Amino acid sequence: MAGLFVSVEGPEGAGKSTQLALLAARLAAEGFVALSVREPGGTALGDRLRTMLLEAGDWTIQDRAEALLYSAARAQLVAEVIRPTLDAGHVLLSDRYLDSTLAYQGYGRGISLDELEVVLRFAVQDTLPDLTILLDLPVELGLARKRAQDPNAGEWTRFEAEAIAFHERVRNGYLTLARREPRRWHVVDATQALEAIQAEIWATIGNRLAPP
Ligand code: TYD
Repeated sequence: MAGLFVSVEGPEGAGKSTQLALLAARLAAEGFVALSVREPGGTALGDRLRTMLLEAGDWTIQDRAEALLYSAARAQLVAEVIRPTLDAGHVLLSDRYLDSTLAYQGYGRGISLDELEVVLRFAVQDTLPDLTILLDLPVELGLARKRAQDPNAGEWTRFEAEAIAFHERVRNGYLTLARREPRRWHVVDATQALEAIQAEIWATIGNRLAPP
């Protein structure tokens, strides 16, 4: 029996990791075997790629190279971790998955979605999420929360104002993706209290879980 594959998407500052930790604890308490992964990363190769993608260094990354590197990390994660977990009938929780590439490299950077779809399919084959939860919140609120977590994030600059337009495209991209595939996506208003968000996520997943 194939397990349940749940991905969680959303902007920085939406509270994905907190909600995923609560969800994993609840699943364990209810007797489910659930494994959590985070993209990019989760394998030896993926962790190296994560460093190249997210840390500043003496290299630059072109938009198309970026899309391929995220996809390479994902292909490795599918083969090493996600597919075996699902084949064993377990629950797999992923902090971001292929919709992040559509939202950030597609809507955000402007690479055509049709071209990206080919790369995504090549990387994951038929390993697609059963359920994708979008933690949606206004861009400025997400950035403000992120800044509160990171005291070195600095002042409101022109650079940050430019970044806001990018994050608006990402947010609207996610909402468009969710509208296109309403059976797979569940959009949660992430401005709600933490407990209310968790209750909504649990109610959505509960519908799809076979008893442990
Ligand atoms: P991370 O530090 O894991 O933060 P978050 O809590 O927001 O997930 O950073 C992941 C970053 O990588 C985030 O800015 C989104 C970006 N990303 C892409 O641009 N494309 C992708 O395919 C993935 C998986 C992530």
